[in-house]
Amino acid sequence: MIYFDQAASSFPKPVEVGEAMVYALNEIGANPGRGGHELARKASGIIQDTRERAARIFGCSDPKKAIFSPNATAALNQALKGLSWEDGDHIIATTFEHNSIRRPLENLKQTYGVDISYITWDESDEIFIERMNKTMNSKTRLIVTTHASNVTGSLLPLEETTKLASKYDVLTLVDASQTAGHMRLHMKQMGIDMMAFPGHKGLMGPQGTGMLLIEGDIELQPIFQGGTGNFSEEPNQPDQMPDKLESGTLNTPGIAGLNAALKAFEERQNENVPRETILTETLLNGLEKIEGVTCYGPSKYAHKMPIVAFNILDIPSQEIAMILDSHYKIAVRPGLHCSPLTHETLNTTEQGVVRASLSIYNTEEEVVAFIKAIEEIASSYNLI
Ligand SMILES: Cc1ncc(COP(=O)(O)O)c(C=O)c1O
Repeated sequence: MIYFDQAASSFPKPVEVGEAMVYALNEIGANPGRGGHELARKASGIIQDTRERAARIFGCSDPKKAIFSPNATAALNQALKGLSWEDGDHIIATTFEHNSIRRPLENLKQTYGVDISYITWDESDEIFIERMNKTMNSKTRLIVTTHASNVTGSLLPLEETTKLASKYDVLTLVDASQTAGHMRLHMKQMGIDMMAFPGHKGLMGPQGTGMLLIEGDIELQPIFQGGTGNFSEEPNQPDQMPDKLESGTLNTPGIAGLNAALKAFEERQNENVPRETILTETLLNGLEKIEGVTCYGPSKYAHKMPIVAFNILDIPSQEIAMILDSHYKIAVRPGLHCSPLTHETLNTTEQGVVRASLSIYNTEEEVVAFIKAIEEIASSYNLI
């Protein structure tokens, strides 16, 4: 099997990830923060170590504000719904948002009468920032933006966006789902107020893990209340972080795996050009030469994550993915990728696109085999 569906969930994982999870399950097992015995203390140690590591790697000044969540969606919901909203407040987002942002935004619109503007990026960072600037008004309170499109891999101009936000004293929330694990990210240096990421994509950690990191004094109300293992006599949710935003037993085995994944990323995060970027360039160059193939998104690598989106003629993307799976044993993802606005922008709502996404564990041989498979499929349609 050639696994080119890394943007949905990474596979395989670094071996240390599974080892750390098995250790936490078989040797520790206890509930972190819910008892003073040795095993509970060990479980708490894993949680604390992971929290500190994530805060250090991603430039979040206070590890207490590095919050665990089951995935990026939960982290984004916590950030968006944890802020207090009033009728007429304004939020700026982009047309590249995943439904994990778009749907909570629509919910805020329906619940509080919040006004949302979606800004399009079409390869000119300058025009994009200018559009954002023009959309800003006295009621704008938040810019929420994906860092990279999960459909095309296009990287949006994050630092210019946070500069604009700080000029107008507007908060920023960044969805780093497609960039965390692929490139260096530092909240403080990049001017990011809140950042969400899943553990299971570019970081190559386990499913069921994610984080919300908060930089500075931002008051978020919890979207869940419940047991936190402390202040048990209090009827109200404690105000202390991280307890305030972490009700219920944490996923200790998953977080142990995430810790191992973060450690592995810490070692590779300063590589000049990540291995998966070089492979993606080879893949895109190969696909662009095939008759009948249309690739979407930027061809300049400074602007791209390890994702290539394409179609063959006007053939439904699902059909191509099915042929790749059944005939070539290649896994890709077709359709709309939970990002309908992106497909409106690309004009691919009907056809969807075939998305091939890579990780450091993919190889040049796999890329060559993939290009050959697409050549064969495209030529069979071109002949009809
Ligand atoms: C850009 C983007 N944001 C958010 C998500 C949601 O991630 P999760 O499924 O871990 O909640 C995804 C997943 O595909 C994504 O690509």
